[in-house]
Amino acid sequence: MDCGKDMDTKMLKILVCVSGGGTNLQAVIDGIKEKEITNAQIVRVISNNRNAYALERAVKEGIDAVCVSPKDYTDRERFHDALLRAVEEKAPDLIVLAGFLVVLPEELIKRYRNRIINIHPSLIPSFCGQGFYGLKVHEKALERGVKVTGATVHFVDEGTDTGPIILQQPVMVEEDDTPEILQKRVMEQAEWKILPRAIDDIANGRVTIKDGKVRRSR
Ligand code: GAR
Repeated sequence: MDCGKDMDTKMLKILVCVSGGGTNLQAVIDGIKEKEITNAQIVRVISNNRNAYALERAVKEGIDAVCVSPKDYTDRERFHDALLRAVEEKAPDLIVLAGFLVVLPEELIKRYRNRIINIHPSLIPSFCGQGFYGLKVHEKALERGVKVTGATVHFVDEGTDTGPIILQQPVMVEEDDTPEILQKRVMEQAEWKILPRAIDDIANGRVTIKDGKVRRSR
């Protein structure tokens, strides 16, 4: 099954979901500007957090940016409906979760099967699943004393961090690492590289899924 788009010549419309600083969003923006990502454009950035710096990054680049916060809705269902509407308005080919700390509505996963990707700051299946996000992932990796960690880009399915893996990049752990230092190294050496690369692969038709596993052609 091809992922992302239906025609080779079509520009891939990407919608990026964020919650925080948005350094991964920035890596995607820069990747497009520097033509490391071709055949793709960001059509909208959605944040669940009004104060996310990621929103400012989008606005600075002239990208459509909206906040859909659960705080503005009386219950989860209404929030999910609003999120779905904010996505559907732009009819994206690919949804990129770049530090998005919201559990996605099942309806969204169903409608965009094999068209949602996520960046996770560890080598899945280590240090992933419920409760593993952001700095906590690096705290757990250091607690366990692993010598190598890294990052993973994967498709999103109904589970937490269980979808087909697209790309992984290892990163060495150093003796004096704190969670913050390790987080920065994993971002610099892994996340900001493999997220743009995965998007470029999808935008250029190099990613297929067979038997629940990703195949990348060159
Ligand atoms: C990134 O490290 C990303 O891998 C992580 O949140 C951070 C967001 O940073 N995502 C997860 O932990 C998802 N489970 P950013 O806002 O600067 O891109």
